[in-house]
Amino acid sequence: MNQRELFLRHVAQTSSAPLTLEVSKAKGTSLFDRNGKEYIDLIGGISVANTGHGHPAVIDAIKKQLDAYLHVMVYGEVVQSPQVQYAQLLADHLPDSLNSVYFTNSGAEAVEGAMKLAKRSTNRTKIIAAKNSYHGSTQGALSILGDEYWRNAYRPLLPGILHVNYNSYDWLHEINETTACVILETVQAEGGIIAPQKEWIQAVRQQCAATGTLLVLDEIQAGFGRTGKLWGFQHFDVVPDILLLGKALGGGMPLGAFISDRKIMMTLTENPVLGHITTFGGHPVSCAAGHAALNVLLEEQLAEGVAAKEALFSSLLQHPKIKSIHSFGLWMAVDLGTFEANKKLIDAILQNKEMGVFTDWFLFAPSAFRVCPPLTIAEEIIEKACAIIIKTLNTLA
Ligand SMILES: Cc1ncc(COP(=O)(O)O)c(C=O)c1O
Repeated sequence: MNQRELFLRHVAQTSSAPLTLEVSKAKGTSLFDRNGKEYIDLIGGISVANTGHGHPAVIDAIKKQLDAYLHVMVYGEVVQSPQVQYAQLLADHLPDSLNSVYFTNSGAEAVEGAMKLAKRSTNRTKIIAAKNSYHGSTQGALSILGDEYWRNAYRPLLPGILHVNYNSYDWLHEINETTACVILETVQAEGGIIAPQKEWIQAVRQQCAATGTLLVLDEIQAGFGRTGKLWGFQHFDVVPDILLLGKALGGGMPLGAFISDRKIMMTLTENPVLGHITTFGGHPVSCAAGHAALNVLLEEQLAEGVAAKEALFSSLLQHPKIKSIHSFGLWMAVDLGTFEANKKLIDAILQNKEMGVFTDWFLFAPSAFRVCPPLTIAEEIIEKACAIIIKTLNTLA
């Protein structure tokens, strides 16, 4: 059996039609298959590879940490310099109230931790989340996921969750003295890149503050320069009580985090002690990689280049079959009207002869394809990718 057949047989599957691109190497903004064919990566691991695949500074940091130590003890007991250094760097680039970092293994675990922290520190149970939001696949995260189709088969889920419309004022009175937290994606990702109206998210922020409710912003996709600023919330002049990070946080290694003020975070230390624990969360190699990646992002000023690249994509992705583009930074949902049309394009550009283009569709916007490449993507690569997409749209029936 070849690798592809073994993959289909022995690696647990998540759909009946996986892309099955057989990757042998990833470098910069390209993936390569076993025949050496190059694919322009418009997914970037879904907002993971913001500094590009295999950045030498990140690889170097990983190698150094490998030589020093791997896992030594569960999270929170011993002083591990990669964790300490990274937490400090993050705190230095966040508002003062986001000064305490709880590292997890994944985004979903950060969501779980934040939900527990909100309940524990407010002594309340009600949680408000938005329709068309995605926060992860574990049961707590699934309970707040904003689409019944994806939740229904796994009920019973957590009680006390209210799903509301994003960008709507109708439900703001629901934020009251019984609410532990409101959890929102700063910009809705899988809904097809839906940005909040500034006044609306500020009104949510205000109502949370007035009622002692915590505002949790999920920047697991939005963070690390994707939107053109280091953090998405900086566009809207709001500061969350808890910030959720993941994906690019680990520079290509698995890492998530929920970040809050130390006063709030300390509630996890008593009654019961060890309120949230993890064996591998904040793994030293992941923290070393993430720390190096954030330094690259800052030193190479990658966020600063985002607006021009977004504009270039928008100007080149003009075609009668493209119905609309929702974008917020180097983060775009390009809508072809139907899932069928979209899937045809996704498959065809992957198979494009000389050079493929690698993209996928959005969970709650299946008629749109994703443009979410490493922020390092060069202009000529953007031009190449868009030329392949437009040429393919011309040839598809
Ligand atoms: C906005 C958002 N939140 C949370 C998650 C969950 O992260 P993970 O897959 O690391 O558990 C994702 C993953 O796609 C996400 O996009």
